[in-house]
Amino acid sequence: MSTLQYSYETCLDGSVKNAWTVDDCFQGRDFDFTKPFLPDRIAGVSGIGCLSDIEKIKLNQIRGNSYCHIFAFVEEYIVPMVVDHARGDVYGDETRLWSLLRFAEEEVKHQEMLRRACSQFEAGFGTSCGLVPGREEVAGVVLGTPPLTALLLTSMIEWFTQLHYVEHVRDQAELDELFRDILRFHWIDESRHARLDSLLIDEVASDLGPEEREAAVDGLLELGNAVDGLLAQQVELDIDALQLATGRTFSESERAEIRIHQQLAYRWTFLVSGLEHPNFVRIVEQLTASGAEKVAQAATALSA
Ligand SMILES: [Fe+2]
Ligand SMILES: [Fe+2]
Repeated sequence: MSTLQYSYETCLDGSVKNAWTVDDCFQGRDFDFTKPFLPDRIAGVSGIGCLSDIEKIKLNQIRGNSYCHIFAFVEEYIVPMVVDHARGDVYGDETRLWSLLRFAEEEVKHQEMLRRACSQFEAGFGTSCGLVPGREEVAGVVLGTPPLTALLLTSMIEWFTQLHYVEHVRDQAELDELFRDILRFHWIDESRHARLDSLLIDEVASDLGPEEREAAVDGLLELGNAVDGLLAQQVELDIDALQLATGRTFSESERAEIRIHQQLAYRWTFLVSGLEHPNFVRIVEQLTASGAEKVAQAATALSA
C-alpha cells in the first residue's frame, strides 16, 4: 500500500547509525531565559495585545515547558503499544522485532529527555508552572482503542513532530539553543518512527474491512477531542503561571484575549498540524473512502 519505499531493515539501520543519548542532547547546558524557546507559529504570543514584549517571552517559555510536558504525556502510550506489536511476532522476523524494540526504547529515551527539560525549566524559570495531570489515565484510554486508532494517532504525532522542527525551529537562530536541540534530537528519531508507524498500519489494516477502517478514523477524531480538552486545561494553567511570573492579575477581558490566542496556537500545534500534514492525509486517504474528508473538516473546525 503506502509503504513500498519503507522497510524495517532501513529503519533499524538508521536507528543504529544515528543513536544518541539524552546527555548528547543536553551537553551539560541550561536554558537561556532571556530568549524565546518556541517559534511563534507554535507559541502564538505575538498577537496578544495586553502583554508587553517581556511578558510575551515569559509566556513563550511557559509554552516551551508545557510543549515538553504534553509531548511526554501524549507519547506515554507509544511504548506499551509498540512493545505489543513487537510481541505479536516475537519468534518471526528478527529485523522487525529489533527495529520495533529500538522504536520503543527510543520513546523511553524521549520521555527521559522531555522530563529532564521540564525539571531544568522548573529549576531555572523562577516561579512554578502548572502542568496537566493524568498521564497514565490518558495512555490507558488510547491503549483501550482499536490498534488502528492508536496507530493513526501515533502516526499523526510523529509527522507533526517533524514538521515543527523542520519548518519552524531548525532555521530560527533567535530561539534558545538547548530548546532547539531538544526538538532536533526528537526529530532525528521521529523521522524513522513515522515510517515504522506506516509499516504497522499496513499490517493491522490488511486484516480489516472498510467499515473498521472508517471507524478507526472516527476513533482518532474522538481522541482528538479528548486531547483538545486537555489543551484547554493547560491554557488556564499557563495563564495562572504567567500571572505568577509577571506579578500581574489579568482582568477577565485580558484573560479572554490570552485564552483565544493560546487555544488556537495549542490546537494548531498538537492537532491541526498533524491532521493537515500531507503525509498523514495520504495515509488516511489510502485506508478509507471518507476519512480524509472527516479529518479535513475536523482540522477546519479546530482552526476557527
Ligand atoms: Fe517521541
Ligand atoms: Fe516517536
